[in-house]
Amino acid sequence: MDKIVVTGGTPLQGEVRISGAKNAVLPILCATLLADAPVEVTNVPHLHDVLTTTRLLSGLGAGVQHDLERGRVTVDPRSVTSHVAPYELVRTMRASILVLGPLLARYGAAEVSLPGGCAIGARPVDLHIKALEALGATITVEHGFIRAQAGRLRGGHVVFETISVGATENVLMAATLADGTTLIDNAAREPEIVDLAECLIAMGADIRGAGTSRIEVRGVERLHAATHAVIADRIETGTFLVAAAMTGGRVTAVGARPDTLGAVLERLRHAGATVEVDGDCVTVDMQGRRPRAIDIVTSPHPGFPTDMQAQFMAMNCIAEGTGTIDETIFENRFMHVSELMRLGAEIDIDGPRASVHGVERLSGAPVMATDLRASASLILAGLVADGETTIDRIYHLDRGYEHIEQKLSGLGARIQRVK
Ligand code: EPZ
Repeated sequence: MDKIVVTGGTPLQGEVRISGAKNAVLPILCATLLADAPVEVTNVPHLHDVLTTTRLLSGLGAGVQHDLERGRVTVDPRSVTSHVAPYELVRTMRASILVLGPLLARYGAAEVSLPGGCAIGARPVDLHIKALEALGATITVEHGFIRAQAGRLRGGHVVFETISVGATENVLMAATLADGTTLIDNAAREPEIVDLAECLIAMGADIRGAGTSRIEVRGVERLHAATHAVIADRIETGTFLVAAAMTGGRVTAVGARPDTLGAVLERLRHAGATVEVDGDCVTVDMQGRRPRAIDIVTSPHPGFPTDMQAQFMAMNCIAEGTGTIDETIFENRFMHVSELMRLGAEIDIDGPRASVHGVERLSGAPVMATDLRASASLILAGLVADGETTIDRIYHLDRGYEHIEQKLSGLGARIQRVK
């Protein structure tokens, strides 16, 4: 089991290139199943979840060419023979549920193992099921499997009572080949949904309003070949910018999409950072200052992203003053709190609210990652803690960050991966 060892105390300086977004490339790879010709995806990050998704697509029979080094994946869906996403794959990556909509729309049948929960919550899929039923699918859930059948899906009116990124993506993909027009109300507005829609439109889909809470899809007969470059990862970008703010350094994220980071940049400015945006570059300069404590309330985009909550909590741990963090999206996304407290953080939890009392210094210690963004927050804390911090179970990290220790080393961090 690999571990990461970080020695704190070095202000980060320099430039870091941002990779393609994990939460865009996963639905986009699933969307290739809708086409009747090969689809090429570029700017694909080298992540464990991407490998899991390509294995899932191959398991369905699709032809997958994966050029890791050049970040390109070409999927030829014409050889798909199976419509079953097996438990052993789905349990390692919940996002496997995103093959449900495409398989239903393209083949009229899909069997996807129930994803089950994860560290941050129960993660139900009821909204996915209700939305697809609104397009005429017949869905049963039994023996740990979601079984879906449909003749040709027909356009319908979907109104989400809760905003769901994945459920919006599933029904958006399914609606592209449905007979007639689909209206999706209270749709998620994340940039990754806009990116998915742009890829689907390049494949010949007729979609309006992606990125707003009302998406209109006019079904078409078929989707054709296309090439699509994945959008830059806003969460990876935010993670490196918080690292700059915490260590008192100056970091420029290159190849980023600052327009997708409004709430995050506003909170960094509020913490006292100078933030400059220049095209696809974002620079955070802390000029050696200690961050001020800030309050965070997570909410669906364009609100503050829940995927940045753990990273900002790490910053609040060493900030001046007390900051409150309200996690409104997931019911159990404070798993990093107990590990941060092992490093000397002072945090009180009251239900969905964490109150973080900033301390001058954290002290390095062995800690354990519990989920993807929690592991990032532990690395950030290690960057400012006295001495060495060893983070165990970093397979969580490899799911969502491409070469994070190399990128941080490139910014001057003392960090290494040990077997
Ligand atoms: C996506 O997960 C992201 N994952 C998550 O990123 C992200 O935290 C989340 O959206 C919120 O932005 C991918 O895109 C692969 P949701 P998703 O459906 O789609 C409840 C990361 O670290 N809900 O928007 O699963 C759910 O329990 C990951 O990169 C239902 O009740 O999130 C949650 O409380 C973590 N029923 C809320 O909605 C459903 O059918 C939002 O979940 C579906 C969701």
